[in-house]
Amino acid sequence: MVKIKIDGIEYEVDEKKNLISAAKDAGVDIPFFCYHPKLSVVGMCRMCLIEIEGIPRLQVACNTKVTEGLSIVTKSDRVKEAREGTMEFLLANHPLDCPVCDKAGECQLQDNSFNAGKGNSRFTLEKRNIPQEEIGSNLIINHNRCIVCYRCVRFEEEMVGESNLGLFERGYHSIIGLAKDEQIQHNYQGALADICPVGALLNNKTLFKSRVWWYKSEESVCTGCSTGCKTFTNVRDNKMFRYMPRIDEEKDQYFLCDKGRFSVDWLNSNRLFSFYKDGEANISSTVLGEISEKLASAKKIAVIGGAHESDQNLKSIRESLSKIGVSFVTEARVSPEQYKEPEQIDFLYTTDKRPNTKGALDAGFISSEGIDSIRSAAIKGEFDLIFVLKENASEILAGVPTGSMVILDTNLTEDVSKSKYSIPIKAYSEQSGSFTNKKGWSQNFKKSMEAPKGLSSSGEIFELLEKKILELRSKPREAAVGNH
Ligand code: SF4
Ligand code: SF4
Ligand code: FES
Repeated sequence: MVKIKIDGIEYEVDEKKNLISAAKDAGVDIPFFCYHPKLSVVGMCRMCLIEIEGIPRLQVACNTKVTEGLSIVTKSDRVKEAREGTMEFLLANHPLDCPVCDKAGECQLQDNSFNAGKGNSRFTLEKRNIPQEEIGSNLIINHNRCIVCYRCVRFEEEMVGESNLGLFERGYHSIIGLAKDEQIQHNYQGALADICPVGALLNNKTLFKSRVWWYKSEESVCTGCSTGCKTFTNVRDNKMFRYMPRIDEEKDQYFLCDKGRFSVDWLNSNRLFSFYKDGEANISSTVLGEISEKLASAKKIAVIGGAHESDQNLKSIRESLSKIGVSFVTEARVSPEQYKEPEQIDFLYTTDKRPNTKGALDAGFISSEGIDSIRSAAIKGEFDLIFVLKENASEILAGVPTGSMVILDTNLTEDVSKSKYSIPIKAYSEQSGSFTNKKGWSQNFKKSMEAPKGLSSSGEIFELLEKKILELRSKPREAAVGNH
């Protein structure tokens, strides 16, 4: 830590941080566009101009080293005038597009214009007008809105490791474009749209879907893989529209990959709402009643899967099974990637596509025999019931008679029509809980959506079964007492 002065007040700040971040920690906002804590400094936008004691000309804060004794001024008339000038230049060609721009409401240009701009424009000439282009499988660029901050180019080169984008031409003609004759295909097109401080880069998938201020947002965690990136959910009319990154500087989390970010459809459509028996919709009392009767007299059962369920549900399932007193085996590792440490596919995305393998193993969903032996035992009929927690049963348990199979799922899958029983369960977004990621971090997610009426979580389903079995077991005794 070092001592620096900002506007005459002394602060102790982290010298390893960029001055913009260090000032922010001290509660002083320096406006910026091109700076990003995870990217190299280019000093291109000139939005962060400040005065430094002892230096006659204004300097960019983003390229000023935080050193002991540094004294800066962020609020003088000179700084104010410089910021207004920068904003005026940036807005000279920027269209007045906010009413139709997807970025409106979360746009740095709007914010900086409001806080540091002049409020009027002297620009009377015709604005630049370049047609919009599709530059990725899910990415469009509106050149007119681009402020040439170079964030997108740096993000691709420095984080993704690809150089699809480049800055072409000079001055007024400067334009961000594809460096090669092919569209961007990588897993970070959503992150490119995020990192663009204005509405120049936008994703097709969310284009014109909603104004951002209509979203209800909650802290959550991505379920796409074992990295467990922190998210904000964006829900409107009880539908999940998109996820946004929830930045955690300490844990070095800033971005989301497309695989996780755009995986929202399963929460909004094709949901399993009804109980099923023999492939036909049935009522909950029949299905749960029959399962609990079988469970009450079962010698051994298996519970397969669980790496999509929260730590709390998993703990609760095991507790219920112990209380029921049945002999059971639990195994969350249903795919080879779960038997080893997850490998990185790119800088975020991993080979283990489940959010809670680690949590499931910690909760005891690990067997000594492994899934292959369990499958063989199941084929031989060694289990009276096999519960499958939101996994592809026909694939994992190929060859196992479906007569003993109980599917617990959030969505209507083929397994539902093939198995003896199916039980609808709440999606993670309809409950609160935590997932434990590949590094062992237990990360909480909050309820973002209302579950359809009558739906229970997987943990609650096992609690219901436990209750029913205890009732069943107490019945003969009650009857016997009643006869005397
Ligand atoms: S497209 Fe966006 S991120 Fe890229 S240079 Fe333009 S404003 Fe910056
Ligand atoms: S890396 Fe994994 S956890 Fe992160 S956004 Fe992608 S799928 Fe989700
Ligand atoms: S943020 Fe410093 S020049 Fe852009």
